[in-house]
Amino acid sequence: MRELRAIGSRVEFDPRRYWNDRHEQTRGLDGVGFLGLRGLNDWMYRVRRRVFARAVRQTGIEVGPARVLDVGSGTGFYLERWRELGTSELIGSDFSDVAVERLRGDFPGVRIESLDITTEDPASLEPLGTFDLISVMDVLYHVVDDAAYARAFANLARLLRRGGRLVFTENFLHARSELNHAWHTSRTLEAIETHLRSAGLFIERRQPWFVLMNEPVDSDSRLHARAWWVMRKMSEKVPGAGFAIGAGLYAPEVVLTRLLSEGPSSEIAIARHT
Ligand SMILES: C[S@@+](CC[C@H](N)C(=O)[O-])C[C@H]1O[C@@H](n2cnc3c(N)ncnc32)[C@H](O)[C@@H]1O
Repeated sequence: MRELRAIGSRVEFDPRRYWNDRHEQTRGLDGVGFLGLRGLNDWMYRVRRRVFARAVRQTGIEVGPARVLDVGSGTGFYLERWRELGTSELIGSDFSDVAVERLRGDFPGVRIESLDITTEDPASLEPLGTFDLISVMDVLYHVVDDAAYARAFANLARLLRRGGRLVFTENFLHARSELNHAWHTSRTLEAIETHLRSAGLFIERRQPWFVLMNEPVDSDSRLHARAWWVMRKMSEKVPGAGFAIGAGLYAPEVVLTRLLSEGPSSEIAIARHT
């Protein structure tokens, strides 16, 4: 774990190298989720499964006949979700060679592409065609460079057919201003909407991805920050604690993510191509 933190704290951040190293050093959901949370990370993925399925239904697009692309597939959690939801034409992708190789082994029936969504060569996307639905889950806040971030949305818009929907997660800060770390950046809702608009995309719907079970990056409540810190430390240090915390919070989390329209943490958004 210490090695992974060292990778993230490099002064010159090289995203592809960071993710190749991270995928090489880990297997399963630990490699793509919140580092070190053990059992709590598994419960966080159970919440994601519920909230993702709900968001896909809300797009109003019939999944069965849709062409679907998942960007930054990592270990393939959302490839499994799309298959569960009945997608017949699914493409997975990642810019990490390690992830792509493993995905090809783990999902023999799914086409897996090596794809950097921030590419400066949009012509390289043409062979993929266009899609009815694209998912980009917990990827975009890892694009720390602003020019690359703008290119990511421009490329996503190229890959979406008109009327298609982009389902993605972001931190959409409104209680705070931009937060920068070596390997992730939390941008404001306003900044993200500006990037989306420039690409011809607009948000139709946005709701919490997490309320209690993730870092409250978009809250100025010290109590909430403290509660998260305690949960995190217990999950990291006490065997079984992460699982117990996750099991206790799962049902309230599923309800709160449905009821609230703004969250203190990451959110899931549906954007439409105009
Ligand atoms: C936090 S993981 C999320 C993986 C998966 N979407 C999930 O939620 O389980 C981020 C993933 O995005 C990939 N990634 C990061 N930047 C990318 C980029 N510019 N283009 C494509 N994939 C990228 C990483 O290799 C990694 O697999």
